[in-house]
Amino acid sequence: MDRNLAMEFVRVTEAAALASARWVGLGDEKAADQAAVDYMRRAFDVVSMDGTVVIGEGERDEAPMLYIGEKVGSGAPPELDIALDPLEGTTLTAHGGPNALSVIAAAPKGSFLHSPDTYMQKIAVGPQAVGCIDIDAPPEENIKRVAKALGRQVEEITVMVLDRERHVELINVIRKAGARIRLITDGDVAAAVATAIPESGIDMMMGTGGAPEGVLAAAALKCMGGDMLGRLKFRNEQEKERAKKMGISDLEKIYRLDDLASGNDIFFAATGVTDGSMLKGVRFFKGGAYTHSMVMRGKSGTIRFIEAQHFFDRKPIYWGSENQAYK
Ligand code: FBP
Repeated sequence: MDRNLAMEFVRVTEAAALASARWVGLGDEKAADQAAVDYMRRAFDVVSMDGTVVIGEGERDEAPMLYIGEKVGSGAPPELDIALDPLEGTTLTAHGGPNALSVIAAAPKGSFLHSPDTYMQKIAVGPQAVGCIDIDAPPEENIKRVAKALGRQVEEITVMVLDRERHVELINVIRKAGARIRLITDGDVAAAVATAIPESGIDMMMGTGGAPEGVLAAAALKCMGGDMLGRLKFRNEQEKERAKKMGISDLEKIYRLDDLASGNDIFFAATGVTDGSMLKGVRFFKGGAYTHSMVMRGKSGTIRFIEAQHFFDRKPIYWGSENQAYK
């Protein structure tokens, strides 16, 4: 993949973040998500690639745009698979909460798990703890191993966990083990990425969240040299059937990082919608807005943070003008 594509992907997440940022705190999750989808879809048109959405807004019959199988990009080579979430953290955005992001990952065809829209049990760690985790081991055992790898006491380890009823037992076990917990209301992609950023103060992410988000997190951790394991968790028989139709025969399979996102030729881009542990949210100024994004490339391991100033009168896409092309 041409490294210059990295900037093109950032433009795509910037467009989605700028659009959804107008809905921060307005209590309308659907509108925030729709704005992100519309503008991400439009921004893709000028990206020089022959892209296919493999992790997207849902099946074709339930999502009119950015659905699984939709073609995105100009149609020129390279042929890429795209995993995306125009707005990761719709509720966070609607409530003005932290860590809402617009995210995409891209890789050569066949690199990403074609995950059904179900749940996934996940455990994620940063580069220093690669190879230490075992999804079948008790949480306290995983924490001990990570603490050892990081050269710290268990009491000095912080685990990020989604605050959900289904995690009551997990939270109790982590607390009993003596580790610290940061509970989050949403956004486990940002949580997984945070494990690979030492200044974030987050050492592990554990628990069950969206499976598509698991693939996005894996793409990021692949670029950052972290580690992750996942196992699909189905809510009902219908979801199991759908998974089988998508070619998944072993419903209990433990997915390693490489099964979720294979190879090194991976790009990951994210733009903050609201302020978070690694990215600042969109900030408006007279006639424009600032965005803060990160873009990573698996091949080189380079992580770039990009601050951008956008002037709406010169970029009418952000005002929703249908007459102006995005250039
Ligand atoms: P959305 O942006 O689609 O609302 O996802 C937010 C999120 O918190 C994800 O980060 C997480 O993987 C998933 O929802 C957890 O699902 P649930 O809210 O059903 O527990």
